[in-house]
Amino acid sequence: MPRSGLDPTERLLRACRGEPVDRPPVWLMRQAGRYLPEYRRVREGLSFLELCRDVEKAVEVSLQPLDAVGSEAVIVFSDIFVPVPGMGIELEFRPGPVVAEPIRSLAQVEALRVPDPRESVPFVGEILRRLRAELAPSRVPLIGFAGAPFTLAAYLVEGRGGGDFVQAKRLMVEAPEVLRALLAKLTQLVVAHLAAQVEAGAQVVQLFDTWAGLLAPDDYAEWVQPVHREIAAKLDRARAPLILYVNTGSHVLDFMLESGADVVSVDWRVDLAAAARRAGGRISLQGNLDPALLFAPREVVFERVRRLAAAGRGARGHVLNLGHGCLPDTPVAGARAFTDAARALAEAAA
Ligand code: CP3
Repeated sequence: MPRSGLDPTERLLRACRGEPVDRPPVWLMRQAGRYLPEYRRVREGLSFLELCRDVEKAVEVSLQPLDAVGSEAVIVFSDIFVPVPGMGIELEFRPGPVVAEPIRSLAQVEALRVPDPRESVPFVGEILRRLRAELAPSRVPLIGFAGAPFTLAAYLVEGRGGGDFVQAKRLMVEAPEVLRALLAKLTQLVVAHLAAQVEAGAQVVQLFDTWAGLLAPDDYAEWVQPVHREIAAKLDRARAPLILYVNTGSHVLDFMLESGADVVSVDWRVDLAAAARRAGGRISLQGNLDPALLFAPREVVFERVRRLAAAGRGARGHVLNLGHGCLPDTPVAGARAFTDAARALAEAAA
């Protein structure tokens, strides 16, 4: 039976766990960013990493999507690369991450530290604690996140993004022991980083394995799936449900469904109704509007959200989201239409 009058935290947690809700909760990946004029104002005169480390300003931009676009959850403002310099890796954003010395040898991996994120990135915990205190009165849920080991490793081996990560794929066959050792260290880092975020107040955590979908199914089974399962097993998911996101992952959907996560977040190339049938009662789904559709007229966004919600009803639980992050030039009105359309679902049902 749908339950009405849920507060936003309860609605999100229930959808993640597959318990009845009145309507799907809604938020947007990369909801705080350059498409918001108020973000660009705060970002002026600061580098991206300076903004990530500035507790006051990071709290401010984390909260912006609530008023600006009506999002129903806050994701901590940070980046998947924020905990990486603490391992002893030099990197900068131009605007994507660029690594000074790409990692290709065992000696380089052995030299990497696995720091306690509470010590290496104390500002992340501080931002989360401040956000949780801000959000408590309105009962808006707080989401933490990390990059998954394969996606982080792909950048660290390649040195930068933007290509097809051929160097990382070469390492898989030319020096598998190097990639294995790197993934092992990154897995420790990611588990510690997510656990620390839950400790600091994150009520849900999302693991971004954006580039794992570049692998063939058998390589995904060997290099990615066991890592997800290890992370899921080591986190306290009863305290904070785990969402797993993989971009261009329709060919590895069955592995995602067996990742041990509570929610699988799919991109728009996946048919949500078909994914729901495959998921059955095992796991909830998140997604999956093509972010380019936020450029469409408001009534088109409403119609697409109605369709997605209908498809999502076949799932154990459904969190409305995009299929990938907001684009840097997303119209604010389109993002607003997306969250308004989610709220309109409840009125239609009443
Ligand atoms: O969702 C949110 O609003 C929270 C913040 C967040 C950022 N990055 C802020 C950011 C999250 C969850 C991320 C995740 C992230 N970062 C991923 C995985 C998800 C995805 O989008 O695929 C990846 C691969 C990165 C790495 C990264 N960071 C790239 C490639 C870039 C440059 C290109 C781009 O898309 O902007 C960044 C920079 C970045 N991370 C910005 C923001 C707001 C832009 C910074 C700026 O110039 O102001």
